[in-house]
Amino acid sequence: MTDSHSDALVFFGATGDLAYKKIFPALQAMIKRGHLSVPVVGVAKAGWSLEQFRARAHDSLEKHGGVDAAAFTKLSGLLRYVDGDYQDPATFQALRKELGSAERPAHYLAIPPALFETVVEHLGKTGCAAGPGCNEARVIVEKPFGHDLASAQELNAILHAVFPESAIFRIDHYLGKQPVNNVVVFRFANSFMEPFWNRNYIESVQITMAEDFGVQGRGAFYDQTGAIRDVIQNHLFQILCNLAMEPPVRTDSETIRDEKVKVLKAIPGLDPANLVRGQFRGYLEEKGVAPDSKVETFAALRLEVDSWRWKGVPFYIRAGKNLPVTSTEVLARFRRPPTVIRDSALSQNYLRFRISPEMTIAMGATVLAPSGAMNSENVEMIASHRPRPEEMEAYERVLGDAMTGDATLFAREDYVEDAWRIVDPVLRAATPVYGYEKGAWGPSEVDQKVSPPGGWHNPAAEDQEDFRVAAQAG
Ligand code: BG6
Repeated sequence: MTDSHSDALVFFGATGDLAYKKIFPALQAMIKRGHLSVPVVGVAKAGWSLEQFRARAHDSLEKHGGVDAAAFTKLSGLLRYVDGDYQDPATFQALRKELGSAERPAHYLAIPPALFETVVEHLGKTGCAAGPGCNEARVIVEKPFGHDLASAQELNAILHAVFPESAIFRIDHYLGKQPVNNVVVFRFANSFMEPFWNRNYIESVQITMAEDFGVQGRGAFYDQTGAIRDVIQNHLFQILCNLAMEPPVRTDSETIRDEKVKVLKAIPGLDPANLVRGQFRGYLEEKGVAPDSKVETFAALRLEVDSWRWKGVPFYIRAGKNLPVTSTEVLARFRRPPTVIRDSALSQNYLRFRISPEMTIAMGATVLAPSGAMNSENVEMIASHRPRPEEMEAYERVLGDAMTGDATLFAREDYVEDAWRIVDPVLRAATPVYGYEKGAWGPSEVDQKVSPPGGWHNPAAEDQEDFRVAAQAG
């Protein structure tokens, strides 16, 4: 453990859903890899004992990934539990006591943003985050980080009252996904990419995040959020930045994050005319959803990146619940060659980054068909294909990075604010919400109003064995 490694992990909201589904499995995985050996203090108001808290951890692991007996024994030994109200200073005094000699705790706020102010203030006042012997405390916060630009600025001010920016780690778990980071590596580790990865050769870029399930009992949360706030302003903008950023001149976290912020700066605020919102039929019957809700469970939009590299190339983003498949995929179509070959099968070249569920990087090309006749066929050149990536779970990666103080995979203050600036105009615009059937690719209005040249590419449920023969692109 280095001198800057967090010497305790505290997580607020310890009895909540996120802890149950993601945090306990991440903690067990960190232990298995030898990456966690410091006390882990759960804080919540449930009237629980430490034993009940351990039982909850066990239950969580049984349901999410399985219990590893040796790792669980070690995790149990590291677990501490503080029960109390976040409004009550005594809760934080008990936490300080539980932290013992820890000087560099990482406080993970897995709680609704409305509680941030109270918790952060108490952390500051009770010596859990600042003061003698506690100068390098960190805070890790979950998305959604605000619900518009103004609220994100308020949250930033709340955090900065106690933590400097360098101690704030805003999670976007998409940054913990290897296929998302592979976009950057593939672009900057391969010299053949650079000549064509720009406005001269790329005609359009589209990103689709499709989920074949609905709001899964999270109606009350989702109805305050909608697809734009839930996944576009954060997860899909991060993918967009990885696709559009310039090569960083150094590999430190701030240089990389500077380049991402530059992409956002080049994007004008969204025009409501370039957005189609949809709502799956049946959404209004979901528990926690307002009976007349106009919240979107689907959104498709077009934006511009007005940088030297991308000026004039439209970027399209589409995300939705209850679509036909669960997959996230990027397709960049090339401009057509000035060819004299006339063939109905002749297709546009494309580069395809499949982010999930499998990871594929492939380039669509046209070759002569084996039949021997002067017919062509479309094939894919596969750069990489991992059917079931054996990789670190996103939460394991981001928690580990926050504890070692590596900020690369976290959203910086200027980044989150600029991302909100871009979507703010459409969030305020009250554009129509069109209905769509479950299992459709969103409302039919999308194809008329927001459709890439050559149309939307619909990711397949699975990259099949024969996916090398592709006929999907325009
Ligand atoms: C979350 C959203 O941030 O990301 C969910 O709140 C969404 O609505 C989820 O389903 C998708 O994450 P993943 O890792 O399953 O693609």
